[in-house]
Amino acid sequence: MAKKGIFIVIEGLDGSGKTTQAALLAEKLKKNHNILLTAEPSHGKIGKFIRESCLYENTRLPTEAEALMFAADRIEHMYSEVKPALDEGKLVICDRYIYSSLAYQGNSGLSLEWIKNINARSLQPDICIFIDVPPEKVIERLQRKKSVMETLEIQKKVREVYMKYVAKGELVRVDGDKDKEQVAEALYRTVSGLIEVAQKYI
Ligand SMILES: Nc1ncnc2c1ncn2[C@@H]1O[C@H](COP(=O)(O)OP(=O)(O)O)[C@@H](O)[C@H]1O
Ligand SMILES: [Mg+2]
Repeated sequence: MAKKGIFIVIEGLDGSGKTTQAALLAEKLKKNHNILLTAEPSHGKIGKFIRESCLYENTRLPTEAEALMFAADRIEHMYSEVKPALDEGKLVICDRYIYSSLAYQGNSGLSLEWIKNINARSLQPDICIFIDVPPEKVIERLQRKKSVMETLEIQKKVREVYMKYVAKGELVRVDGDKDKEQVAEALYRTVSGLIEVAQKYI
């Protein structure tokens, strides 16, 4: 049987430290694994379109179209980067995935079921982490130009959706309200344990 890698997804609010922690996690895991560190929106054609045309107020698409764009980017990213890396047995760390669509577009009036349906062709991740930082804290951290999603009100609702999937056991919560090194250590311990479990099933 072909060797298969492990697909790890890091989720969280804007400014919760996903990009910081995904990089620190990759650094720690690369001692024992070949890693692909990647992110959504991707660097493919559709990902570029999303970054240029979906994230800031003056250029926003209707919410349904926005959700379809993210789903389309996810598929392109899967075929161009994620699946080839997994087929080579790599450990893929992806900064944001389907739960971001559920949490963000789900809060823009779309049903979670429809969002799940349009993402049904995307690969199922093996390990999904939610880096939890209070919405008030992330808004404080974000000094750069804020996207349309980065208001306290939206971030509070987004966290509620994420926590719903934590309660269901689909996302594993890691406390992100600590200094970077402490979060990185906790994340590494959690993910290492889950990798051991995942390896039994692949
Ligand atoms: N644990 C932390 N404590 C304080 N600030 C942090 C922490 N982790 C990240 N940051 C800072 O918060 C900002 C957002 O981090 P980033 O990793 O870009 O988050 P995300 O990718 O989730 O939006 C950055 O300025 C980063 O340096
Ligand atoms: Mg980021």
